Amino acid sequence: MKKIRLGIIGLGSMGAAHARWILAGKTPRIELAAVADIDPVFRKPFAQFQPFAEGSELIKSGTVDAVLIATPHYSHNALGIQALKAGLHLLVEKPISVHKADCQRLIAAAKAAKRDGKRVVFAAMFNQRTNPLHQKLRELLQAGELGAIQRIQWTVTNWFRSQAYYSSGGWRATWAGEGGGMLLNQCPHNLDLLQWLFGMPDRVTAFCEFGRYHAIEVEDSVTAYLEYKDGPTATFIAATGEAPGTNRLELACDHGRVVLENGKIEFVRTVVPVGEFCRTSPDHWRTPDIWNAQIPVAGEGAQHIGILNNFADAVLAGAPLIAPGEEGIHSVELANAMLLSTFERKTIGLPLNAARYEKALKGKIAASTFKKRVVKSVPQKRDLANYFGKL
Ligand SMILES: NC(=O)c1ccc[n+]([C@@H]2O[C@H](COP(=O)([O-])OP(=O)(O)OC[C@H]3O[C@@H](n4cnc5c(N)ncnc54)[C@H](O)[C@@H]3O)[C@@H](O)[C@H]2O)c1
Repeated sequence: MKKIRLGIIGLGSMGAAHARWILAGKTPRIELAAVADIDPVFRKPFAQFQPFAEGSELIKSGTVDAVLIATPHYSHNALGIQALKAGLHLLVEKPISVHKADCQRLIAAAKAAKRDGKRVVFAAMFNQRTNPLHQKLRELLQAGELGAIQRIQWTVTNWFRSQAYYSSGGWRATWAGEGGGMLLNQCPHNLDLLQWLFGMPDRVTAFCEFGRYHAIEVEDSVTAYLEYKDGPTATFIAATGEAPGTNRLELACDHGRVVLENGKIEFVRTVVPVGEFCRTSPDHWRTPDIWNAQIPVAGEGAQHIGILNNFADAVLAGAPLIAPGEEGIHSVELANAMLLSTFERKTIGLPLNAARYEKALKGKIAASTFKKRVVKSVPQKRDLANYFGKL
C-alpha cells in the first residue's frame, strides 16, 4: 500500500500522541518518517528516528512528503508557511494561527503552493468534526429537518484545568506565549463546530474574564452573545474553572427543541411548526403538541485518528477533507472577536478587522506583567485516555 512519509513537529502531549497512534498501526497509509522537537527531553522517546532539533530543519530535510505541526500556537504560522513554501502537504493542530491576520498569511501561502495546478493538501486537526453527534446534527440542519433556528445556547464548562496545569510553565496562558487563554486552546473545537453548523455571525458581544479562576493573565471564563444575519442568536458560555461542568448545546428551532448532551441528541418535535402555531392558534396559553423523536448516534467517532487517515486519503487519493485548513480561520476570528469585544467593551461587527485585532494583541503582549514564557514546554503528566475522553 502506498503511504505518505509524515514528519511530526513538536513531540509534546499532542505530537507524541499522534506519533504513537501512527506507530501503533492505526494509520495504515501513514509512515512516520521524521520527528522534531527543540527540547531533548521530548526527543528522547523517539531517538530511533534521529529527531531534528528544530521543526524548520525537518522541513528542509527532504525526508517527508507532509508535516503535522503540533507545536505551541504562535509557531504554527511560521512553520506552516515554511512547509507550504517547500511544497509539503500540511496538517496543522488547532488553532491554525493565533489571530486572523496570521491565518490569512497561512492561507495565502497554501493558495500560492497550489498555484500552477500543484496539489498541496492543507488540513486542520479539528477532530471533533468526526464525532457522529456533531455530524448528525449537521445533517439534520442541512436537510432542513429542524426548520429555522431561533436560538442557540452552548454551555461548555467541562474544560476544567487546574492551577498546576497553568503553572506548569512553558508557553501556556500568557499573551506572548499562547496568544490568549481558553478561546485559543480549548474552545477552538467548539468555535469551529459552531461555525461549521451555523455559519458565521454578523456581530459578537462578549464578556471574557481574565484569570477569574486561576492566577493567569488570559481568559478562563467567557460569556458571548452572537447575532446572525438571518435571525438566530447564540449564547456561548465556557470556563476552565468549573466542575463537574456541562457540555450542553440546545437549539430552539421552528420544529421544536434539540439538545446535544451526554453523547445523545434529543429532539422534541412540534407537530406543527412553532411559528405557524403562534400565528394561527386561537388559544392564549396552549403550546404545540409534541413528538419525542429518537435520533440514533453511537460512539465518539474516529477523532484524531480519523483526521490523520482522512489527511492521508486526501494526499494519496484526493479524498475530500473533513477539516480543510482554510476553514480554521473562522474559529480564530470568533475567538479574536470575543477578546476584542471584551478589550473595547463593544459589540464587534464581522468580518473582523484583522489588523485592528493584531494591534490590540500586540498591545496586550507589550503591557503584560507576566513573565514571558514563550518557548519551553514542560512534560505533562497526563492520563491521555481521560484527557481525550472529554474531547
Ligand atoms: N486536537 C486536540 O485535541 C489537541 C489537544 C491538545 C493540544 N492540541 C494542540 O497541539 C499543539 C501542541 O500542544 P501540546 O499540548 O502538545 O503542547 P506541548 O507543550 O506539550 O508540546 C509542544 C512541543 O512543541 C515543541 N516545540 C516548540 N517549538 C518547536 C519548534 N520550532 N520545532 C520543534 N518543536 C518545537 C516543544 O518543545 C514541545 O515539546 C497546540 O496547538 C495545541 O492547541 C490539540
